[in-house]
Amino acid sequence: MAFNAYMHPRNPYKDNPPDFSKLGEEFADFKKYVQYNKAGKPFINFRSCAAVRELTVALLKKHFGIKLTLPTNSLVPTVPLRLNYLLWLEDILNCNGFDPERVVFDIGCGSSCIYPLLGVAINPEWNFFASDIDDRNLRSAKENVENNDMTTKITLIKSSGAEIFPDELEKLDACMCNPPFFNDQVEMDATKMRPTANSSCAGSKTETISEGGDLKFATKIVEESMTMGDRIKWYSIMLGKKQTLKSVLSVLKGKNISTIVTTEFCQGNTMRWGVAWTFLKDIPTQLIPVSPFQKSILKKQKKPIQMKSLVNKSDECLTSLKKILDEISVSYTVTKETSKLTVYIKAQADSWCHARRKRRQKQNKSVQNCETNSVNEQKLESSLEVELSIEIHSSNGKCTLCLIPKDQSQRDKVNNLAVFLKGKV
Ligand SMILES: C[S@@+](CC[C@H](N)C(=O)[O-])C[C@H]1O[C@@H](n2cnc3c(N)ncnc32)[C@H](O)[C@@H]1O
Repeated sequence: MAFNAYMHPRNPYKDNPPDFSKLGEEFADFKKYVQYNKAGKPFINFRSCAAVRELTVALLKKHFGIKLTLPTNSLVPTVPLRLNYLLWLEDILNCNGFDPERVVFDIGCGSSCIYPLLGVAINPEWNFFASDIDDRNLRSAKENVENNDMTTKITLIKSSGAEIFPDELEKLDACMCNPPFFNDQVEMDATKMRPTANSSCAGSKTETISEGGDLKFATKIVEESMTMGDRIKWYSIMLGKKQTLKSVLSVLKGKNISTIVTTEFCQGNTMRWGVAWTFLKDIPTQLIPVSPFQKSILKKQKKPIQMKSLVNKSDECLTSLKKILDEISVSYTVTKETSKLTVYIKAQADSWCHARRKRRQKQNKSVQNCETNSVNEQKLESSLEVELSIEIHSSNGKCTLCLIPKDQSQRDKVNNLAVFLKGKV
Protein backbone atom coordinates (compact mmCIF):
# COMPACT_ATOMS: atom_id res chain seq x y z
CA MET A 1 0.00 0.00 0.00
CA ALA A 2 2.86 2.28 -0.94
CA PHE A 3 0.87 5.36 -1.96
CA ASN A 4 -1.86 5.33 0.69
CA ALA A 5 -0.20 8.14 2.62
CA TYR A 6 -0.80 10.35 -0.42
CA MET A 7 -4.54 9.77 -0.63
CA HIS A 8 -6.73 12.84 -0.59
CA PRO A 9 -6.73 14.19 3.01
CA ARG A 10 -10.54 13.86 3.25
CA ASN A 11 -10.52 10.32 1.89
CA PRO A 12 -12.06 8.26 4.72
CA TYR A 13 -9.72 5.36 3.87
CA LYS A 14 -6.55 7.44 4.14
CA ASP A 15 -5.59 6.55 7.69
CA ASN A 16 -8.30 4.01 8.12
CA PRO A 17 -7.89 1.03 5.79
CA PRO A 18 -10.83 -1.38 5.74
CA ASP A 19 -10.75 -4.16 8.29
CA PHE A 20 -11.18 -7.19 6.01
CA SER A 21 -12.02 -9.47 8.87
CA LYS A 22 -14.88 -7.31 10.15
CA LEU A 23 -16.08 -6.63 6.61
CA GLY A 24 -16.15 -10.39 6.00
CA GLU A 25 -18.38 -10.86 9.02
CA GLU A 26 -20.96 -8.54 7.46
CA PHE A 27 -20.62 -9.54 3.83
CA ALA A 28 -20.63 -13.28 3.24
CA ASP A 29 -19.72 -12.96 -0.46
CA PHE A 30 -16.62 -10.99 0.51
CA LYS A 31 -15.68 -13.33 3.37
CA LYS A 32 -14.82 -16.07 0.85
CA TYR A 33 -11.83 -14.02 -0.27
CA VAL A 34 -10.43 -13.06 3.10
CA GLN A 35 -7.23 -14.93 3.96
CA TYR A 36 -5.00 -14.73 7.04
CA ASN A 37 -1.23 -14.58 7.21
CA LYS A 38 0.87 -16.40 9.83
CA ALA A 39 0.48 -13.50 12.23
CA GLY A 40 -3.30 -13.75 11.87
CA LYS A 41 -3.56 -10.55 9.84
CA PRO A 42 -6.38 -10.62 7.28
CA PHE A 43 -5.64 -9.86 3.63
CA ILE A 44 -7.14 -10.39 0.19
CA ASN A 45 -5.46 -11.18 -3.10
CA PHE A 46 -5.71 -7.92 -5.04
CA ARG A 47 -4.88 -9.83 -8.22
CA SER A 48 -8.15 -11.68 -7.91
CA CYS A 49 -10.82 -9.80 -9.76
CA ALA A 50 -13.56 -11.57 -7.84
CA ALA A 51 -12.03 -10.53 -4.51
CA VAL A 52 -11.65 -6.89 -5.57
CA ARG A 53 -15.22 -6.89 -6.91
CA GLU A 54 -16.64 -8.15 -3.61
CA LEU A 55 -14.49 -5.65 -1.72
CA THR A 56 -15.92 -2.80 -3.80
CA VAL A 57 -19.48 -4.05 -3.34
CA ALA A 58 -18.98 -4.39 0.42
CA LEU A 59 -17.29 -1.00 0.90
CA LEU A 60 -19.91 0.84 -1.13
CA LYS A 61 -22.70 -0.75 0.88
CA LYS A 62 -21.08 -0.41 4.29
CA HIS A 63 -19.74 3.14 4.08
CA PHE A 64 -21.99 4.80 1.48
CA GLY A 65 -25.19 2.77 1.53
CA ILE A 66 -24.77 2.03 -2.20
CA LYS A 67 -26.02 -1.24 -3.67
CA LEU A 68 -23.83 -2.14 -6.64
CA THR A 69 -24.22 -4.87 -9.21
CA LEU A 70 -21.71 -5.38 -11.98
CA PRO A 71 -21.97 -7.58 -15.05
CA THR A 72 -19.23 -10.19 -15.30
CA ASN A 73 -16.04 -9.05 -17.06
CA SER A 74 -16.80 -5.44 -16.39
CA LEU A 75 -14.37 -2.92 -14.94
CA VAL A 76 -14.32 -3.11 -11.16
CA PRO A 77 -13.92 0.38 -9.73
CA THR A 78 -11.79 0.72 -6.62
CA VAL A 79 -13.57 2.93 -4.11
CA PRO A 80 -10.67 4.90 -2.53
CA LEU A 81 -9.30 5.89 -5.95
CA ARG A 82 -12.69 7.08 -7.21
CA LEU A 83 -13.16 9.05 -3.98
CA ASN A 84 -9.81 10.78 -4.54
CA TYR A 85 -11.06 12.18 -7.86
CA LEU A 86 -14.44 13.30 -6.47
CA LEU A 87 -12.82 14.99 -3.47
CA TRP A 88 -10.36 16.81 -5.72
CA LEU A 89 -13.30 17.98 -7.84
CA GLU A 90 -14.89 19.34 -4.67
CA ASP A 91 -11.66 21.25 -3.94
CA ILE A 92 -11.57 22.74 -7.41
CA LEU A 93 -15.21 23.80 -7.37
CA ASN A 94 -14.96 25.22 -3.85
CA CYS A 95 -11.95 27.42 -4.62
CA ASN A 96 -14.41 29.94 -6.00
CA GLY A 97 -16.83 29.64 -3.08
CA PHE A 98 -18.78 26.76 -1.60
CA ASP A 99 -22.12 25.81 -3.08
CA PRO A 100 -23.80 22.60 -1.93
CA GLU A 101 -25.59 22.22 -5.27
CA ARG A 102 -23.45 21.23 -8.21
CA VAL A 103 -24.18 19.70 -11.58
CA VAL A 104 -21.48 17.41 -12.91
CA PHE A 105 -21.17 15.49 -16.17
CA ASP A 106 -19.43 12.10 -15.99
CA ILE A 107 -18.06 11.14 -19.42
CA GLY A 108 -18.06 7.35 -19.72
CA CYS A 109 -19.84 6.25 -16.55
CA GLY A 110 -19.23 2.55 -17.20
CA SER A 111 -21.43 -0.29 -16.03
CA SER A 112 -20.97 0.72 -12.39
CA CYS A 113 -21.88 4.41 -12.79
CA ILE A 114 -19.51 4.77 -9.85
CA TYR A 115 -18.76 8.50 -9.96
CA PRO A 116 -22.39 9.66 -9.99
CA LEU A 117 -23.40 7.12 -7.33
CA LEU A 118 -20.54 8.04 -5.01
CA GLY A 119 -20.81 11.72 -5.87
CA VAL A 120 -24.45 11.86 -4.79
CA ALA A 121 -23.73 9.69 -1.74
CA ILE A 122 -21.11 12.15 -0.45
CA ASN A 123 -22.84 15.29 -1.75
CA PRO A 124 -26.59 14.62 -1.66
CA GLU A 125 -27.36 17.94 -3.34
CA TRP A 126 -25.20 17.26 -6.38
CA ASN A 127 -26.79 16.15 -9.65
CA PHE A 128 -25.12 14.23 -12.42
CA PHE A 129 -25.41 13.67 -16.12
CA ALA A 130 -23.59 10.51 -17.11
CA SER A 131 -22.87 9.25 -20.61
CA ASP A 132 -21.59 6.04 -22.10
CA ILE A 133 -21.11 4.77 -25.59
CA ASP A 134 -21.87 1.17 -24.72
CA ASP A 135 -25.45 -0.14 -24.42
CA ARG A 136 -24.55 -2.94 -22.04
CA ASN A 137 -22.80 -0.48 -19.73
CA LEU A 138 -25.75 1.91 -19.86
CA ARG A 139 -28.22 -0.87 -19.03
CA SER A 140 -26.15 -1.83 -15.99
CA ALA A 141 -25.64 1.82 -14.99
CA LYS A 142 -29.42 2.34 -15.19
CA GLU A 143 -30.00 -0.65 -12.94
CA ASN A 144 -27.53 0.74 -10.39
CA VAL A 145 -29.11 4.20 -10.48
CA GLU A 146 -32.60 2.73 -10.03
CA ASN A 147 -31.54 0.32 -7.28
CA ASN A 148 -30.23 3.29 -5.32
CA ASP A 149 -33.27 5.52 -5.88
CA MET A 150 -31.16 8.09 -7.66
CA THR A 151 -33.17 8.50 -10.87
CA THR A 152 -33.98 12.11 -10.01
CA LYS A 153 -30.32 12.86 -9.32
CA ILE A 154 -28.58 11.04 -12.16
CA THR A 155 -29.53 11.38 -15.83
CA LEU A 156 -28.04 8.80 -18.17
CA ILE A 157 -27.21 9.73 -21.75
CA LYS A 158 -26.33 7.44 -24.63
CA SER A 159 -23.28 8.84 -26.42
CA SER A 160 -23.01 8.33 -30.18
CA GLY A 161 -19.24 8.52 -29.83
CA ALA A 162 -19.09 11.32 -32.38
CA GLU A 163 -19.19 14.06 -29.78
CA ILE A 164 -18.26 14.04 -26.12
CA PHE A 165 -20.65 16.80 -25.04
CA PRO A 166 -24.27 16.22 -26.09
CA ASP A 167 -26.43 19.23 -26.99
CA GLU A 168 -28.82 18.66 -24.10
CA LEU A 169 -26.18 19.76 -21.61
CA GLU A 170 -26.88 23.24 -20.36
CA LYS A 171 -24.68 25.05 -17.85
CA LEU A 172 -22.63 22.70 -15.72
CA ASP A 173 -20.23 23.10 -12.85
CA ALA A 174 -17.82 20.44 -13.99
CA CYS A 175 -17.20 17.44 -16.15
CA MET A 176 -15.10 14.48 -15.17
CA CYS A 177 -13.79 11.49 -17.03
CA ASN A 178 -11.97 8.23 -16.45
CA PRO A 179 -11.29 7.51 -20.12
CA PRO A 180 -10.40 4.19 -21.72
CA PHE A 181 -6.64 4.26 -21.10
CA PHE A 182 -5.35 1.92 -23.76
CA ASN A 183 -4.82 2.27 -27.46
CA ASP A 184 -5.12 -1.45 -28.16
CA GLN A 185 -5.00 -4.90 -26.58
CA VAL A 186 -1.19 -5.06 -26.90
CA GLU A 187 -0.75 -1.87 -24.88
CA MET A 188 -3.27 -3.03 -22.32
CA ASP A 189 -1.63 -6.45 -21.89
CA ALA A 190 1.78 -4.81 -21.54
CA THR A 191 0.47 -2.56 -18.79
CA LYS A 192 -1.27 -5.38 -17.00
CA MET A 193 2.19 -6.89 -16.52
CA ARG A 194 3.03 -3.97 -14.27
CA PRO A 195 2.12 -4.46 -10.63
CA THR A 196 0.33 -1.10 -10.52
CA ALA A 197 -2.44 -2.33 -12.76
CA ASN A 198 -2.88 -5.71 -11.15
CA SER A 199 -5.74 -4.79 -8.96
CA SER A 200 -7.76 -2.84 -11.46
CA CYS A 201 -9.80 -5.74 -12.90
CA ALA A 202 -9.37 -4.27 -16.29
CA GLY A 203 -12.88 -4.79 -17.61
CA SER A 204 -14.24 -5.27 -21.11
CA LYS A 205 -12.62 -3.92 -24.26
CA THR A 206 -15.10 -1.06 -24.66
CA GLU A 207 -14.35 0.07 -21.14
CA THR A 208 -10.60 0.09 -21.44
CA ILE A 209 -9.61 0.38 -25.10
CA SER A 210 -10.17 3.29 -27.41
CA GLU A 211 -8.11 4.15 -30.47
CA GLY A 212 -5.35 6.54 -29.42
CA GLY A 213 -5.84 5.69 -25.73
CA ASP A 214 -6.41 8.32 -23.07
CA LEU A 215 -4.32 10.95 -24.87
CA LYS A 216 -6.60 10.95 -27.91
CA PHE A 217 -9.67 10.91 -25.69
CA ALA A 218 -8.34 13.79 -23.60
CA THR A 219 -7.37 15.75 -26.72
CA LYS A 220 -10.94 15.38 -28.01
CA ILE A 221 -12.28 16.70 -24.71
CA VAL A 222 -9.84 19.65 -24.87
CA GLU A 223 -10.88 20.44 -28.44
CA GLU A 224 -14.60 20.25 -27.70
CA SER A 225 -14.10 22.30 -24.53
CA MET A 226 -12.91 25.14 -26.77
CA THR A 227 -16.39 25.26 -28.30
CA MET A 228 -18.23 24.66 -25.04
CA GLY A 229 -16.25 27.42 -23.28
CA ASP A 230 -17.65 28.41 -19.91
CA ARG A 231 -20.88 26.45 -20.37
CA ILE A 232 -18.90 24.06 -18.17
CA LYS A 233 -16.98 25.80 -15.42
CA TRP A 234 -14.30 23.15 -14.96
CA TYR A 235 -13.21 20.42 -17.36
CA SER A 236 -11.33 17.54 -15.78
CA ILE A 237 -9.91 14.18 -16.72
CA MET A 238 -8.03 11.37 -15.03
CA LEU A 239 -5.00 10.02 -16.87
CA GLY A 240 -3.20 6.70 -16.62
CA LYS A 241 0.38 7.79 -17.23
CA LYS A 242 2.53 10.72 -16.20
CA GLN A 243 3.70 11.00 -19.79
CA THR A 244 0.08 11.42 -20.95
CA LEU A 245 -0.33 14.22 -18.43
CA LYS A 246 2.69 15.99 -19.97
CA SER A 247 1.23 15.57 -23.45
CA VAL A 248 -2.21 16.82 -22.37
CA LEU A 249 -0.59 19.84 -20.72
CA SER A 250 1.12 20.73 -23.98
CA VAL A 251 -2.16 20.31 -25.87
CA LEU A 252 -3.83 22.69 -23.39
CA LYS A 253 -1.00 25.22 -23.59
CA GLY A 254 -1.05 24.95 -27.37
CA LYS A 255 -4.66 26.15 -27.22
CA ASN A 256 -3.62 29.05 -24.96
CA ILE A 257 -5.59 27.63 -22.07
CA SER A 258 -3.81 29.07 -19.07
CA THR A 259 -5.86 28.18 -16.00
CA ILE A 260 -4.84 24.57 -15.50
CA VAL A 261 -4.44 22.54 -12.33
CA THR A 262 -3.06 19.04 -11.85
CA THR A 263 -2.96 16.45 -9.11
CA GLU A 264 -2.12 12.84 -8.38
CA PHE A 265 -4.63 10.23 -7.30
CA CYS A 266 -2.93 7.67 -5.09
CA GLN A 267 -4.21 4.41 -3.74
CA GLY A 268 -2.32 1.24 -2.88
CA ASN A 269 0.28 0.73 -5.58
CA THR A 270 -1.68 2.73 -8.11
CA MET A 271 -1.08 6.31 -9.11
CA ARG A 272 -3.17 8.23 -11.62
CA TRP A 273 -2.94 11.85 -12.69
CA GLY A 274 -5.69 14.46 -12.72
CA VAL A 275 -5.79 17.54 -14.93
CA ALA A 276 -8.46 20.24 -14.93
CA TRP A 277 -8.87 23.51 -16.79
CA THR A 278 -11.31 26.38 -16.97
CA PHE A 279 -12.09 29.29 -19.25
CA LEU A 280 -13.40 31.38 -16.37
CA LYS A 281 -11.28 34.38 -15.47
CA ASP A 282 -9.70 35.25 -12.11
CA ILE A 283 -10.21 31.87 -10.52
CA PRO A 284 -8.20 31.71 -7.27
CA THR A 285 -6.55 28.38 -8.07
CA GLN A 286 -4.01 29.06 -5.31
CA LEU A 287 -6.83 28.14 -2.91
CA ILE A 288 -6.96 24.59 -4.27
CA PRO A 289 -5.01 22.52 -1.73
CA VAL A 290 -1.71 21.11 -2.98
CA SER A 291 -1.94 17.33 -3.26
CA PRO A 292 -0.21 15.32 -0.51
CA PHE A 293 2.11 13.84 -3.15
CA GLN A 294 3.17 17.25 -4.47
CA LYS A 295 3.57 18.41 -0.87
CA SER A 296 5.92 15.53 -0.13
CA ILE A 297 8.03 16.42 -3.18
CA LEU A 298 8.20 20.05 -2.09
CA LYS A 299 9.17 18.96 1.40
CA LYS A 300 11.96 16.77 0.05
CA GLN A 301 13.18 19.64 -2.10
CA LYS A 302 13.25 21.92 0.90
CA LYS A 303 15.61 19.60 2.75
CA PRO A 304 19.08 21.13 2.97
CA ILE A 305 21.84 19.62 0.90
CA GLN A 306 24.08 18.06 3.52
CA MET A 307 27.76 17.18 3.43
CA LYS A 308 30.24 16.05 6.03
CA SER A 309 33.25 18.24 6.76
CA LEU A 310 36.78 16.85 6.72
CA VAL A 311 37.40 18.49 10.08
CA ASN A 312 35.59 18.07 13.37
CA LYS A 313 35.46 21.63 14.69
CA SER A 314 33.16 24.22 13.23
CA ASP A 315 35.75 27.02 13.48
CA GLU A 316 38.24 24.98 11.47
CA CYS A 317 35.54 24.15 8.96
CA LEU A 318 34.65 27.82 8.61
CA THR A 319 38.32 28.76 8.07
CA SER A 320 38.73 26.24 5.28
CA LEU A 321 35.37 27.20 3.72
CA LYS A 322 36.31 30.89 3.72
CA LYS A 323 39.65 30.06 2.12
CA ILE A 324 37.98 28.20 -0.74
CA LEU A 325 35.34 30.89 -1.27
CA ASP A 326 38.09 33.52 -1.37
CA GLU A 327 39.97 31.46 -3.96
CA ILE A 328 36.98 31.44 -6.30
CA SER A 329 36.16 35.11 -5.52
CA VAL A 330 32.84 34.47 -3.86
CA SER A 331 31.90 37.02 -1.23
CA TYR A 332 30.06 36.06 1.93
CA THR A 333 28.99 37.17 5.36
CA VAL A 334 29.16 35.07 8.49
CA THR A 335 26.89 35.02 11.53
CA LYS A 336 27.57 33.08 14.70
CA GLU A 337 24.96 31.55 16.95
CA THR A 338 25.57 29.17 19.82
CA SER A 339 24.60 26.06 17.91
CA LYS A 340 25.67 26.98 14.39
CA LEU A 341 27.72 29.18 12.11
CA THR A 342 25.98 30.50 9.02
CA VAL A 343 27.69 31.70 5.86
CA TYR A 344 25.47 33.75 3.53
CA ILE A 345 26.51 33.75 -0.09
CA LYS A 346 25.29 35.75 -3.04
CA ALA A 347 27.33 34.80 -6.05
CA GLN A 348 27.54 33.79 -9.66
CA ALA A 349 27.19 30.02 -9.83
CA ASP A 350 29.86 29.89 -12.51
CA SER A 351 32.51 30.74 -9.90
CA TRP A 352 32.45 27.20 -8.65
CA CYS A 353 31.39 25.62 -11.92
CA HIS A 354 34.34 27.15 -13.77
CA ALA A 355 36.74 26.30 -10.98
CA ARG A 356 35.53 22.75 -11.06
CA ARG A 357 35.70 22.60 -14.81
CA LYS A 358 39.25 23.89 -14.86
CA ARG A 359 40.28 21.35 -12.27
CA ARG A 360 38.63 18.55 -14.20
CA GLN A 361 40.16 19.69 -17.45
CA LYS A 362 43.53 19.72 -15.79
CA GLN A 363 42.98 16.18 -14.77
CA ASN A 364 42.00 15.59 -18.39
CA LYS A 365 38.84 13.80 -17.40
CA SER A 366 35.47 13.92 -19.08
CA VAL A 367 33.47 16.85 -17.85
CA GLN A 368 30.01 16.36 -16.39
CA ASN A 369 27.50 17.87 -14.05
CA CYS A 370 27.82 21.63 -13.95
CA GLU A 371 29.88 21.82 -17.12
CA THR A 372 28.20 23.77 -19.86
CA ASN A 373 28.95 22.56 -23.32
CA SER A 374 28.16 25.55 -25.44
CA VAL A 375 29.14 29.18 -25.26
CA ASN A 376 25.48 30.15 -24.96
CA GLU A 377 24.94 27.86 -22.02
CA GLN A 378 28.01 29.32 -20.32
CA LYS A 379 26.65 32.83 -20.79
CA LEU A 380 23.29 31.78 -19.39
CA GLU A 381 24.93 30.10 -16.44
CA SER A 382 27.08 33.08 -15.56
CA SER A 383 24.13 35.42 -15.79
CA LEU A 384 22.33 33.56 -13.01
CA GLU A 385 22.89 34.76 -9.51
CA VAL A 386 22.60 32.28 -6.67
CA GLU A 387 21.72 33.02 -3.10
CA LEU A 388 22.22 30.50 -0.37
CA SER A 389 23.27 29.97 3.17
CA ILE A 390 25.64 27.35 4.49
CA GLU A 391 25.06 26.30 8.07
CA ILE A 392 27.94 24.64 9.87
CA HIS A 393 26.69 22.35 12.62
CA SER A 394 28.91 20.58 15.05
CA SER A 395 27.79 17.78 17.33
CA ASN A 396 29.34 14.64 18.83
CA GLY A 397 32.73 15.72 17.54
CA LYS A 398 31.47 15.73 13.92
CA CYS A 399 30.96 18.72 11.69
CA THR A 400 28.28 18.95 8.96
CA LEU A 401 27.60 21.60 6.33
CA CYS A 402 23.98 22.23 5.30
CA LEU A 403 23.61 24.13 2.04
CA ILE A 404 20.21 25.86 1.80
CA PRO A 405 19.22 27.56 -1.47
CA LYS A 406 17.18 30.72 -1.00
CA ASP A 407 15.10 29.74 -3.97
CA GLN A 408 14.38 26.07 -4.73
CA SER A 409 14.77 26.69 -8.45
CA GLN A 410 18.47 27.19 -7.74
CA ARG A 411 18.87 23.87 -6.01
CA ASP A 412 20.92 22.37 -8.86
CA LYS A 413 23.46 25.18 -8.66
CA VAL A 414 23.73 24.80 -4.91
CA ASN A 415 24.13 21.08 -5.42
CA ASN A 416 27.03 21.83 -7.75
CA LEU A 417 28.62 23.93 -5.01
CA ALA A 418 28.31 20.99 -2.63
CA VAL A 419 30.02 18.75 -5.19
CA PHE A 420 32.74 21.39 -5.59
CA LEU A 421 33.31 21.71 -1.83
CA LYS A 422 33.31 17.99 -1.17
CA GLY A 423 36.68 16.76 -0.03
CA LYS A 424 38.01 20.29 0.41
CA VAL A 425 36.28 21.61 3.49
C1 LIG B 1 -12.39 3.28 -18.10
S1 LIG B 1 -14.13 3.21 -18.27
C2 LIG B 1 -14.63 4.17 -16.89
C3 LIG B 1 -15.86 3.69 -16.22
C4 LIG B 1 -16.19 4.39 -14.89
N1 LIG B 1 -16.34 5.79 -15.07
C5 LIG B 1 -15.12 4.11 -13.86
O1 LIG B 1 -14.35 5.02 -13.53
O2 LIG B 1 -15.02 3.00 -13.39
C6 LIG B 1 -14.42 4.24 -19.67
C7 LIG B 1 -15.86 4.27 -20.12
O3 LIG B 1 -15.99 5.21 -21.19
C8 LIG B 1 -16.92 4.70 -22.12
N2 LIG B 1 -16.71 5.41 -23.39
C9 LIG B 1 -15.82 5.17 -24.38
N3 LIG B 1 -15.93 6.09 -25.34
C10 LIG B 1 -16.91 6.96 -24.95
C11 LIG B 1 -17.49 8.13 -25.51
N4 LIG B 1 -17.08 8.61 -26.68
N5 LIG B 1 -18.45 8.77 -24.81
C12 LIG B 1 -18.88 8.30 -23.62
N6 LIG B 1 -18.36 7.17 -23.06
C13 LIG B 1 -17.40 6.53 -23.70
C14 LIG B 1 -16.64 3.23 -22.14
O4 LIG B 1 -17.71 2.47 -22.64
C15 LIG B 1 -16.35 2.96 -20.67
O5 LIG B 1 -17.50 2.59 -19.99
